[in-house]
Amino acid sequence: MERIIIKGGKKLSGSVRVSGSKNAALPVIAASLLADGACRLENAPKVKDIQTMCQMVGVLGGRTKRETDVLVIDSSGFSCRPAPYDLVRTMRASVYVLAPLLSRFRKAKVALPGGCAIGLRPLDQHLKGLEALGAKVKMEHGYIQAEAAQGLHGAEIYLDVASVGATVNILLAAALAKGRTVLDHAACEPEIVNLAGFLNAMGARIQGAGTSRVLIEGVKRLAPVTYQIIPDRIEAGTLAIAVAITQGEALIEGFFLTHLAALERKLSAAGVELRSESESAVRVKCKNDELLPIDIVTLPYPGFPTDLQAQWMALMCRASGRSVITESIWENRFMHVAELKRMGANIRIEGNNALIRGGRALSGAPVMASDLRASAALILAGLVAEGETSISRIYHLDRGYEKLEDKLAALGAEIRRETE
Ligand code: EPU
Repeated sequence: MERIIIKGGKKLSGSVRVSGSKNAALPVIAASLLADGACRLENAPKVKDIQTMCQMVGVLGGRTKRETDVLVIDSSGFSCRPAPYDLVRTMRASVYVLAPLLSRFRKAKVALPGGCAIGLRPLDQHLKGLEALGAKVKMEHGYIQAEAAQGLHGAEIYLDVASVGATVNILLAAALAKGRTVLDHAACEPEIVNLAGFLNAMGARIQGAGTSRVLIEGVKRLAPVTYQIIPDRIEAGTLAIAVAITQGEALIEGFFLTHLAALERKLSAAGVELRSESESAVRVKCKNDELLPIDIVTLPYPGFPTDLQAQWMALMCRASGRSVITESIWENRFMHVAELKRMGANIRIEGNNALIRGGRALSGAPVMASDLRASAALILAGLVAEGETSISRIYHLDRGYEKLEDKLAALGAEIRRETE
């Protein structure tokens, strides 16, 4: 088992480059299965979840190959096989293969993922969308079994929640469906825009991605293409908070400020400036010696991302005064609180609110990561804690961050990975 050891107290400085986005690459890999041939995905991150998705492509008969930062997905051998529980349970985004299977073979059998550490994570909106597009769906023996004997057709769909995953599955299913689909209350995340750009490059006809109404005019076929995955906005945000928490100053490349407007405003209120130096590079600089306590509420894009909530909490532990974090997306995303408290943080949970009394010094301690973003939060706390912090269960971090410790070390942090 590996762990990360940090000696706190170093101000971060210099420059660093953000890797490609995990949550943008995952749906694009699934979308590659809609074309017959090899797609080349540039800037695909080297993280565990991407490997898991590649394994899923392999189970379904496709082939994947890495050429440095290019990931090649060859769907020539794609065939109608079950997506097994063993893979789906390790990564919920595996359910993105539901739509390509249905679309190309009119049938799909995909294991039901079940809950996960951060919440129940139902799939009702995915299934409602696919049913509207003509699929008959039933649950049997822990599998989603879907069939569209006559093929998929366009439909008018309204999502009860602006689910990222449901929007992905519906875009993938509607791209090759017969006729026009109107999707209302769609997720507006940059990852959805990136996916729609990929599908359109393959020949799809999608308009409005990035707004809550998306129009999809079904086409007969999609052709393989080369495509660029956007930089990871959550990694960019995590790095910005890392610089801020240490009162440092650094340039982050591969950072589109437009993808993180909520974070920019909240950091600015807390006393940290994010300044664009080019379209995709941002300088992070603290305006004062002290951070101010600022409340946040996590919301679907363009609201404050839930995937930066834990990292924001670490930052607020260092701000002088009280702040409140309201988690409105996931019902169980405060598992980092108990670990931050082991480091001396003063945090109280009341329902989906975390009440933080910041400003005290944190002290290094052995702590345990509970999920991907919690791991990042503990690392950030370790950067400013007195003494040594050791974080175990770091495999959670490796699911979605590409060498975060190397990037922080390049900015001057005293951080290393070791095998327990
Ligand atoms: N929801 C439903 N029904 C559904 C689908 C979702 O009620 O059919 C609810 C969920 O329970 C949740 C809310 O809708 O309360 C949002 O869920 P969403 O479907 O948008 O989340 P997701 O697609 O499962 C993606 C990211 C998550 C990120 C969320 C929210 C990927 C692979 N995952 O999950 O990323 O937190 O959107 O932005 O893109 C992470 O990277 O650490 C991570 C958890």
